[in-house]
Amino acid sequence: MAFRQNDQHFSTKALHVGQEPEQWTSMAVVPPISLSTTFKQDGPADYKKYEYGRSGNPTRDVLEKCLASLDGAKHGITFSSGLAATTTITHLLNAGDHIVSMDDLYGGTNRYFRKVASRMNIETSFVDATDPAKVAAALRPNTKMVWIETPTNPTLKVVDVRAVADVLKDRKDIFLVVDNTFESAYFQRPLELGADISYYSLTKYMNGHSDVIMGALTTNSDDLHERLRYLQNAIGPVPSPFDCYLVNRSLKTLRLRMEQHQKNSLEVGRWLEKHPAVESVLHPGLPSHPQHHIVLKQCYGHSGMISFYLKGKLAESRKLLSSLKLVTLAESLGGYESLAELPYLMTHASIEEKERVALGVTENLIRVSVGLEDVNDIIEDLDQALRAAVKC
Ligand SMILES: Cc1ncc(COP(=O)(O)O)c(C=O)c1O
Repeated sequence: MAFRQNDQHFSTKALHVGQEPEQWTSMAVVPPISLSTTFKQDGPADYKKYEYGRSGNPTRDVLEKCLASLDGAKHGITFSSGLAATTTITHLLNAGDHIVSMDDLYGGTNRYFRKVASRMNIETSFVDATDPAKVAAALRPNTKMVWIETPTNPTLKVVDVRAVADVLKDRKDIFLVVDNTFESAYFQRPLELGADISYYSLTKYMNGHSDVIMGALTTNSDDLHERLRYLQNAIGPVPSPFDCYLVNRSLKTLRLRMEQHQKNSLEVGRWLEKHPAVESVLHPGLPSHPQHHIVLKQCYGHSGMISFYLKGKLAESRKLLSSLKLVTLAESLGGYESLAELPYLMTHASIEEKERVALGVTENLIRVSVGLEDVNDIIEDLDQALRAAVKC
C-alpha cells in the first residue's frame, strides 16, 4: 500500500507548538491548567491578553495553537463538543441561506441540519458527494456552505476533497467544511486539499482516550476565524481548561496511536474479508474499497474505522454484538479501546428508516472502531462472536 509520505515534523509540532515554557513566569514545561474565569485589569477595559474565560483562556490557547500547527493552519478554535462547533459554523449563515451536505453523514450532524437549522429557515440538500457533479448540481444562488464528511460515518464513503473544492472555485461566497474526525490530522489534512475549514470531533481520535467531549475547527482564513471567534463568544460553547489540558496531552501520542490503529484495522479488515460469516468489508485502506484510489492520493493512511455487512439480519447482528467479550458494545469511536455498534439502531437511528436503508445503513451493518489491544485478541473475540451469531 503506497500512502503519501506524512509530514516528518508532525510529532515535534504535537509535542512543542504552543507549549514553550518561556510563556509562563514559572517556566513550566507542562502547560499549566488555568482555571480562573476572570483576569485582573490594569484599568477599566485595560487588560493584557485575557479578560473573561469565555472569550479566552491560556490553557485553551495552548491547545488551539498546537491544533492549528498540526493542520498547517493559521488558526485553531476549540469548542465544548463537535456539535457545538457545527452549531457555531451554521451561525455564519443567515435565514434563507442554503447548505449542500452529504447523504451519508454522522447522525447528529444530519439531525442538526434537518431538525434544528431548518427551523431557522436554513435548508440543506443531502447529496452523494463521492460524485462531485452531484454537489455542483445541488448548488443554488443562496448556497453558502458545502459540508463534506470523509470518510463518512458509518459506510466509510470517501470524497475527493480537491474535486469538490474545484467545483466551488468560482463561488467565492461559499465556504467548504470537511469533517475530518475519522482520519484525524495525522492521516488527512483537508486545508491542504482546498477546504476552508477543517472540522473535528476531538472526542474521537484526536483525544483518543474516551474521556473528553470536545470539538475544533482550523482555518487559514482570517475572516472566517474572526467571525467564528465572535460567534463563539456570543453563543458561549467553550471547552473547560481541564479538557483542553487532556486533549493537548493526548496529541503527544496521536502519531503513535494512529499508526497502531491503522496496523490493527488493516489486519482485522483483511481477516474479516475471508470470514465465512461476513458478506463484505468497508475499509478505505483496502484495495476492495470503491474509492481506494482517492484514499491513496488524498490521505496519509487510514484510522481504525471499519464497517462490515454480516451474513444475517437484525437477530444475527444483535447476537454478534451481545456475544462480544473484549470489544465493547458502545457508541463513539477513536479511543484506545475497541468498540462495536449497530448504526441502524444506535448512532444513526435518528435518520428516517427508508433513508437509512437506501444509504446502506441496514440491520446487518456493523461498525467497529479497532482499538490498540493486541490484534490477535481482537480477532479472537470477533471470531467467537461471529460464530455465535451465524452458523458457519
Ligand atoms: C464524524 C463525526 N462528526 C461529528 C461528531 C459530533 O461530535 P461530538 O460528539 O463531539 O459532539 C461525531 C460524533 O460521533 C462524529 O462521529
